[in-house]
Amino acid sequence: MMTSETTLSPNTTTPAPVKERVLSGMRPTGALHLGHYHGALKNWVRLQSEMECFFFVADWHALTTHYEHREVIEQNVYEMVIDWLAAGLDPNQCTLFLQSRLPEHAELFALLAMGTPLSWLERVPTYKDQQQQLKDKDLATYGFLGYPLLQAADILIYKAHYVPVGEDQASHVELTRETARRFNDLYGRRADDATRAAAALAKLAKEDARYFNTLKKKFQEQGDEVARARLPGFLARFEVLTPDDHALLMGQFSGKGRTVLVEPQVLLTQSSKLPGLDGRKMSKSYGNGIAIREDRASIEIKVRTMPTDPARVKRTDPGDPDKCPVWQFHKVYSDDTTQQWARQGCTSAGIGCIECKQPVIDAILKEQQPMLTRAEPYLSNPKIVRDIIDAGTDRARLTARATMHEVRAAIGLNY
Ligand code: TRP
Ligand code: SF4
Repeated sequence: MMTSETTLSPNTTTPAPVKERVLSGMRPTGALHLGHYHGALKNWVRLQSEMECFFFVADWHALTTHYEHREVIEQNVYEMVIDWLAAGLDPNQCTLFLQSRLPEHAELFALLAMGTPLSWLERVPTYKDQQQQLKDKDLATYGFLGYPLLQAADILIYKAHYVPVGEDQASHVELTRETARRFNDLYGRRADDATRAAAALAKLAKEDARYFNTLKKKFQEQGDEVARARLPGFLARFEVLTPDDHALLMGQFSGKGRTVLVEPQVLLTQSSKLPGLDGRKMSKSYGNGIAIREDRASIEIKVRTMPTDPARVKRTDPGDPDKCPVWQFHKVYSDDTTQQWARQGCTSAGIGCIECKQPVIDAILKEQQPMLTRAEPYLSNPKIVRDIIDAGTDRARLTARATMHEVRAAIGLNY
C-alpha cells in the first residue's frame, strides 16, 4: 500500500516540501551519559537538519518523581542543555526550551484532563512499572498518574507529527493519539463544517484542490497511510490557509468535522544500544554509566575495570565475547576489522582483556573530544545557555499560544 513520492506530488514544479515537525523532551534528573547519547541525542542531532525540531527540558515531568528532591532538578536543567549543545544540537537549527516557562502546557493538560477517562491513565504500563521500580518514592500521586497526559499536552500543543522516543515511551504516544482523537470528536464538529471546508478548498488553485481530493479518496477508500502522513506538509505549503482551514481540511480528509489536535507518530530511535559498564542498561541509578562530559582519566579507569566474560579468569583462558559487556561496546564503537581482531583474539586467548579494551577507550575519547570543545564556551559563559533557552522558549510560546487559542475556541471558552 506504499505510494511513491512522485504520485503524491501535485505537479512537477512542486516547491520543496515544508518540514514536518518533531518534538521530544528529556527529564533533567541527572548528568546525561553515553547511553542517552547513543539512544536518543545522536538521533536528535540528525533530525534537526531534516525536520522542524522542538526539544525541551521536561522539568515538570521530573517533578512528578522528584517533588521531594527538587534541588536535583535545579542542578541539572542547564547542565542537561550543555550536554545537548555538546552533543551537537544547534540552537540555530532547532528550538530548545524549558517546559515550566510555558504555562500553556499546564492549561492544555487541565483541559484535556476533563474528558480523559481515569482508566486510560491507570492502564498505561509505565504507571505500575515505575511505581514498582522506584519503591523508595511515593508515586501514588495525582501528578504521577497524570504524567502521560501532561506528555500528551506537550506534544499536542505543538501539533508535532513525529515524536522520537525509545520503545518505553510508545504507550505514552499512543495515549497522546487517543487523546487527540477524543478531543477532535468532542470539540471538532460544528454545524457548518462542510460549507467552511469547501470554502477553504476554494482558496487553493484548481489542480491543488483536485490533488487534495485524490489524496482523500486514496485514504478513505484504500486506507493509504502514506497519503495521510504527507497531508500536513502538503497543506503547510499554502499560506492562504488559516489554522482553522487546516483543521477543516484535515477533518474532511478523514471524514470528520475538524482535526484541531494532530495525532503524532512515534519515531522509534533506530540506534545502537549501548549497555552500561556491567552489561545492564546504562543508568545513573545503577552507577554503571559514563557521562557525556566525564573526565578522561575516569573514562580510562572505568573501562579498564569493566567486568568481562566471567569464565575468562586467566589470560590463557579463551573467552566468549557474547558473554562480555566489552563486546557490546565494540559493536557500537569499533569497525569490522577491530571487531574481528577482538573476537578472534578473545576466543583464541590471543589477546588479553586490557588489550581488547584499549580501542574502546580510544574510540570513546575520540568521540568525546569535539563534545568537550563544543561545551567549553558554554561552561565559561553560562549566560549564553540561558539566552539560548530564553530565545527558544519565546519561539515555542508563539506556537503554543496559537494552539491554545484554537483549543479554547473549539471547547467554546471564548466567551
Ligand atoms: N517521558 C519522557 C521520558 O521520560 C520525557 C518527555 C516528557 C517527553 N514530555 C515529552 C518525550 C514529550 C517526548 C515528548 O523520556
Ligand atoms: Fe571481553 Fe575482550 Fe576480554 Fe574477550 S578479550 S572477555 S571480549 S574484554
